[in-house]
Amino acid sequence: MMSNENPIPPSLKVLKTIAKYSKMANRYPDQGLIIRGKIAKMNGLAGPENVVLGNGSSEIFDMIYRAFLRPGDEVIQQTPCFGIYKLRCELFGGKIISVPMEYKDKKMIYDPEGIIKAITDKTKVIVIANPNNPTGNFMDEKEFIRIAELGIPFVIDEAYIEYDGLKKSLAKLTKRFKNVIITRTMSKAYGLAGLRFGYLLADREVAMKIAASLLPWNVGTIPMWAALTALEDRKGLEKRVKFNNGQVAFIEKEMSKIPGIVVFPTRANYVLFDAGATGKTGEDVLKYAQKKGLILRGNKPKYGSEGWFRVTIGTSQENKMFIKVMKDFFSR
Ligand SMILES: Cc1ncc(COP(=O)(O)O)c(C=O)c1O
Repeated sequence: MMSNENPIPPSLKVLKTIAKYSKMANRYPDQGLIIRGKIAKMNGLAGPENVVLGNGSSEIFDMIYRAFLRPGDEVIQQTPCFGIYKLRCELFGGKIISVPMEYKDKKMIYDPEGIIKAITDKTKVIVIANPNNPTGNFMDEKEFIRIAELGIPFVIDEAYIEYDGLKKSLAKLTKRFKNVIITRTMSKAYGLAGLRFGYLLADREVAMKIAASLLPWNVGTIPMWAALTALEDRKGLEKRVKFNNGQVAFIEKEMSKIPGIVVFPTRANYVLFDAGATGKTGEDVLKYAQKKGLILRGNKPKYGSEGWFRVTIGTSQENKMFIKVMKDFFSR
């Protein structure tokens, strides 16, 4: 319960597609025009030229940095957040500038003002996840617009957007702002993390500039067609989202019963906790959980608390076990 994967295995439809296209594995993949067209249509964009495919969205961040970053340039991120933004930025010789969220009234709050203040003439990319991992919350659209208006390449990572539906997506901003790039993945709500399929949405010219650094055949035939099948299977997605959101509600409710634990309401497939007020550390929680057979994700000390940890929604059996283990641990 550590890496924000989906506990539900691929559907029969996806498995059939995998079997079908595995027979073509002697051939190189094509440019993915069909799936790129489908993705563009689903997001109200003009066509396949607005979509670039990646071997997971992790590869997409790489492509974006490759296109916009030179050694010494800066990338601004809002923390706590997904670790790859920093890792890949530093690999390109970039400097990551972390702007912490505000922690107030048991809530984590985005700090768009802080992000804007952190901009220098070296800032070449700003990256913000919406909803954010690990905090699970959204930033207001008007704040995204404020940042977009500054004209700096602005990556909005929508890895978990489907758990709340595409209505909150900011894909439409790519039509208004050339500097806005949306990243998505099939690893989360669609449950295909092992297939490796992600994509970006952007203005046509920007997409072309980013695609210029693509390795030939970076996405295989099987992931492309399997992803298309999953995208077309609306019921399959609904089932996964409904299951997840029900389990999130269960975990949030049960964890809120433990005195001293701050539960951060989430719109994704993980829940963040701060157990600082219980006197126990996140590390203690992780060690105890591991002894009981559960692997959770820690989060380094911040805001004067050492009590941070995150759980990924598992099967209903795993989630019940998680609650039992947490109740046992915190009542010791
Ligand atoms: C916020 C966020 N973005 C992107 C990703 C990367 O997903 P993938 O490379 O599997 O598409 C993750 C994975 O955990 C994530 O949490």
